[in-house]
Amino acid sequence: MEPDNHLVVKNVVKHYPIRKGLFSKIVGNVHAVDGVSFQIDRGKTFGLVGESGCGKSTLARLLMSLEPLSGGQILYKGQDISRFSKKHIFEIRRKMQLIFQDPYSSLNPRKSIGHSIEAPLVTHGIAANRKERRELVTQMMDEVGLDVEQFKRYPHEFSGGQRQRVCIARAMILEPEFVLCDEPVSALDVSIQAQVINLLCNLQKKRNVTYFFISHDLNVVKHISDVVAVMYLGRIVELAPKNVLYKRPLHPYSQALISSAPEVNLKQKKKRTVLTGDVPSPIDPPKGCHFCTRCRYVEKKCTNEPSPELIEVEHNHFVRCWLY
Ligand SMILES: Nc1ncnc2c1ncn2[C@@H]1O[C@H](COP(=O)(O)OP(=O)(O)OP(=O)(O)O)[C@@H](O)[C@H]1O
Ligand SMILES: [Mg+2]
Repeated sequence: MEPDNHLVVKNVVKHYPIRKGLFSKIVGNVHAVDGVSFQIDRGKTFGLVGESGCGKSTLARLLMSLEPLSGGQILYKGQDISRFSKKHIFEIRRKMQLIFQDPYSSLNPRKSIGHSIEAPLVTHGIAANRKERRELVTQMMDEVGLDVEQFKRYPHEFSGGQRQRVCIARAMILEPEFVLCDEPVSALDVSIQAQVINLLCNLQKKRNVTYFFISHDLNVVKHISDVVAVMYLGRIVELAPKNVLYKRPLHPYSQALISSAPEVNLKQKKKRTVLTGDVPSPIDPPKGCHFCTRCRYVEKKCTNEPSPELIEVEHNHFVRCWLY
């Protein structure tokens, strides 16, 4: 493994026990994340796509040490952060920041936006005094395209796009090295989405931050990512550089997903593959390949044998399927 990998995730698992009865006996497990491995290089964007409930946000919480792992390892610049103490996690939080989907609920409605952007500086003891902090906040507001005059305004006085700019400013003010964005533009209009994505791209160029970018929207992920991973029922089923994945998806699930994305499909003029059936429950996922219940190429092996591993089919192109 190369030492300049910013984040290395090894076989990460998260199971939530299901308890029932008077004695809270464990009767099963939700397999929210079921053996996920990948790595991200510094200054690059790793995009994660997948249907609702496939485990994207759970994986995000694990990467940010907001929940303990059930198994596996997360190495941040070579250090195993999954075994970090609370004190260490607090320290690393300055370098690893989060941006959520709903900018309204992630801002305190009783705090002016200036104070919200300033708060992390206070928490982490950055800047000597209030005057210095205010200077940093106004610089940051300017950088994300907010009017400095709006310092004292409250979140409800802003549009969704502006509120997301506030959240981006609040994350970036700590000069993080790694920013995890969980569906950051999904609640915004398409035109505003493009502005926010461009802002994120510009900030990345200037500051060399690494992004982990989650979205269910293939077009958004295509725009921003260097590498894209497709997740299905707790597992990454395909992982490749963006252009390779969108041009030549190999996993039957990625093929169906990409062929049904309106804009991506428009350019390629390919026939659409419609997925039939529902996503199986993560409480009791299929024994073999997780996609076997909906796959049009399904064979006996797919249901009977233990799950296939993620293998490198061509340079940097990984697939988890018996077809390859
Ligand atoms: N704390 C929890 N306890 C039990 N099950 C959970 C918990 N958190 C998540 N899950 C389950 O784990 C699975 C993955 O959820 P997750 O929120 O990670 O999906 P997601 O891919 O982010 O979906 P969406 O696109 O809708 O945001 C779901 O089946 C969910 O019900
Ligand atoms: Mg989610």
